[in-house]
Amino acid sequence: MNLINNGKLDFSQLESITKKPKLFTKDKINFWQDPYISEHILYAHLDDESDEGSRKYETIIKSVLWLSEYMDLPKGARLLDLGCGPGLYSEHFHGQGFKVTGIDFSQSSINYAKEEAKASQYDIEYLCQNYLEIDYTNEFDVITLIYGDLCVLSHQERDLLLTKVRKALKPGGYLIFDLFTKQYFKKGHENQSWYLSREEGFWKEDEHLLLHEHFKYKKEKVRLEKYTLIMADGEMQSYHIWKHYFSLKRAKEMLHEHQLILKDFWSDLCGKPYEIESSWIGMIAQKPLSKQ
Ligand SMILES: C[S@@+](CC[C@H](N)C(=O)[O-])C[C@H]1O[C@@H](n2cnc3c(N)ncnc32)[C@H](O)[C@@H]1O
Repeated sequence: MNLINNGKLDFSQLESITKKPKLFTKDKINFWQDPYISEHILYAHLDDESDEGSRKYETIIKSVLWLSEYMDLPKGARLLDLGCGPGLYSEHFHGQGFKVTGIDFSQSSINYAKEEAKASQYDIEYLCQNYLEIDYTNEFDVITLIYGDLCVLSHQERDLLLTKVRKALKPGGYLIFDLFTKQYFKKGHENQSWYLSREEGFWKEDEHLLLHEHFKYKKEKVRLEKYTLIMADGEMQSYHIWKHYFSLKRAKEMLHEHQLILKDFWSDLCGKPYEIESSWIGMIAQKPLSKQ
């Protein structure tokens, strides 16, 4: 879309930016897969000082140790890391004796993960693929979906993914995931903000104006972070980041709907006891041993 029409600024186009989009409207370009943005997301994943892209290194190690001990599976148990990013969890699960497959649709992250595994001689399989398209049957002892992946999908996509995940797990296999709660958005009110970048930034290498809006969809328990990029020639592009938050009750219902048995839940994936004020729910569920 271009904001300049016959040499003039088109205010109706500008106005359209500020309108609340319909729930789960898709972007023209996928934020995670855009070649430029995904490089910057990769830097965020690897930034050990921040929890922006991935959790901090020491949290990841703590989490992998805690979960490995909790599951107590034999060496060589197969683990599928969905949305593995640059492989930060995959590598540590490999270190704990799992036979790991990591899937992510960001080419930048998968390239990085593959290079790291090669350099360290880790036998990890990394696939650049949309995890909504996986097709495994009774193959994995563990499947992980870490750092809110189930929260950024539409209801339909989440149902599809959980159906595929259940199918991919061996009977008795574990699903590990985490979800945002309402507390996660404690400071986030509906608002608009903007900044001007005259140099290379997260979204674009050329100068640009970045508009940010935060919308609430209260009934659906969904928030939207909408980022609109405006370039010097009037070209604009919006990116929607949908964030669905869960109550503990809703999370339990979701597992029940997909015939997965809740094993345990915490405030994180390091075993911190769950509290009503937690921003996250860390969960482990199990595929039933026999057909139920
Ligand atoms: C919040 S990051 C978490 C990365 C990793 N689990 C971690 O905690 O370090 C989400 C990851 O999921 C990937 N992703 C999102 N949707 C995906 C999809 N449909 N198929 C494959 N990967 C996806 C993104 O590219 C990104 O690397």
